[in-house]
Amino acid sequence: MKKVTVIAAADLASGIGHEGTIPWRCARDLKHFKETTQGKSLIMGRRTADSLPFKLPGRKTYVLSRNLDDHPHADKVCGSMLEATSLLSDEEEIFIAGGEEIYRWAFDQKIVTDVVLSTILGVWDCDKVFPMEYLKDFKARYSKGFMAGSPSFVVTWFK
Ligand SMILES: NC(=O)c1ccc[n+]([C@@H]2O[C@H](COP(=O)([O-])OP(=O)(O)OC[C@H]3O[C@@H](n4cnc5c(N)ncnc54)[C@H](OP(=O)(O)O)[C@@H]3O)[C@@H](O)[C@H]2O)c1
Repeated sequence: MKKVTVIAAADLASGIGHEGTIPWRCARDLKHFKETTQGKSLIMGRRTADSLPFKLPGRKTYVLSRNLDDHPHADKVCGSMLEATSLLSDEEEIFIAGGEEIYRWAFDQKIVTDVVLSTILGVWDCDKVFPMEYLKDFKARYSKGFMAGSPSFVVTWFK
């Protein structure tokens, strides 16, 4: 694995989720997520997998759970991040797709090489946040604004 990329969308107060879902609807950001992760493998927490309406097409999805053996939205359920990353060790790039618990876990393991963060320009009621404190170890390389839709957002690539 050469690249381990955290991908997330957070509002201006770092919020990423509320009561098990994402509180905003931003079709253009979902398109960005799809384009960025297409053909790649994703690792996500079980609660994020629960929030999906279906298994994401065109991506291998590894769901982390200490309790489950399978999940309808997973290609494979893994009991640990170590198990998931060792299964993916031959891949060029894998994506860590949340939620908060899994982002923190991945940063703490010091396996993250890149971060792709969408900043959604607004503030919503959220009970989960992106752990911004870990970004101090990364440098912003490039940002692109998507101002046409509502909500508008800015994507920043960190390394
Ligand atoms: N805005 C965004 O970009 C974005 C992205 C993703 C998610 N979200 C939001 O974030 C929220 C979910 O985040 P969350 O923090 O509540 O949950 P989460 O990180 O999605 O999942 C947590 C679950 O992962 C499993 N897990 C955690 N650490 C593990 C480990 N070391 N080994 C094995 N399994 C492990 C456990 O599953 P078991 O309980 O089954 O053992 C735990 O309950 C939702 O609101 C979702 O919509 C937002």
